[in-house]
Amino acid sequence: MSSDSYLSDLFSLDGRVAVVTGGSSGIGRAIAGALARAGASVVIVARKEPDLVATVEELTADGCRAAWVSADLGTRDGVRAAAEQAAAVFGEPDILVNSAGINLRPPMGELSDEVWDTTMAVNLEAPFLLGRRFGPGMAERGFGRIIHITSQQAHRAFVQSGAYGVSKGALESLARSQAEAWSSHGVTCNTLVPGFVMTPLNERLSSDPEKVAALAARTLVGRNGLAEDFAGAAVFLASGASGYVTGQSIFVDGGFSVH
Ligand SMILES: NC(=O)c1ccc[n+]([C@@H]2O[C@H](COP(=O)([O-])OP(=O)(O)OC[C@H]3O[C@@H](n4cnc5c(N)ncnc54)[C@H](OP(=O)(O)O)[C@@H]3O)[C@@H](O)[C@H]2O)c1
Repeated sequence: MSSDSYLSDLFSLDGRVAVVTGGSSGIGRAIAGALARAGASVVIVARKEPDLVATVEELTADGCRAAWVSADLGTRDGVRAAAEQAAAVFGEPDILVNSAGINLRPPMGELSDEVWDTTMAVNLEAPFLLGRRFGPGMAERGFGRIIHITSQQAHRAFVQSGAYGVSKGALESLARSQAEAWSSHGVTCNTLVPGFVMTPLNERLSSDPEKVAALAARTLVGRNGLAEDFAGAAVFLASGASGYVTGQSIFVDGGFSVH
């Protein structure tokens, strides 16, 4: 057996369909690209059309199958519409990646109902609703992969965790609840836990060289994360190779969490 066919048996996503929320930017964009290049047909979901179009154009130019759906995942109706539109493109998904997320950082005492509600809607409710929509079908078909992107703040308070940290802590619990429900039917549910990754999400922080250097020093690898650092872990969690890994939080953080 050649190493190519061995690797392809383990990791190929040929014939799989993936939905990646937040797939137009940062970590989600890198994951969408990785899944598509590993063989999956990928639908990315976010709000801003220019970013969606640019991502899909890049992937299709590379020979990948990709499409986009523009939707606001901050409302339940938006999530429902997005799910139906996404499933209509390449069929019901085998892989769901929840990377869409927001981090609004008001001081704890000034955290408004609105910020709380929006944070929970995008970071926690949308992954729940999409899982409820797609999980049972995956279980019925005997294969599925649900991957959530959480945060260090699911595990420790850090740079004004506020509502964001609460939503990410709950998202890790959601992965375990989903894993309990569906793993025996071939549907694994896990989370990837980033450290500090240079993306548009934390533009304010990443434009301050001193803070960037201080954060890099807190890792063991000696640098902050790049969106591309998530490619390998995402393909692993989306593939057949990870069939016995479920309910886990996998840290892709350069050792930040153990330093
Ligand atoms: N960067 C980090 O250091 C870091 C650290 C820990 C965890 N994370 C997590 O990693 C995930 C990805 O973050 P990132 O850094 O890659 O951020 P990013 O570059 O800002 O990307 C966020 C994505 O989510 C989409 N999105 C946001 N609100 C949405 C809404 N209401 N409806 C639909 N789509 C929405 C955005 O597109 P539109 O704006 O066009 O909608 C974009 O595609 C997030 O869950 C974040 O919490 C990031």
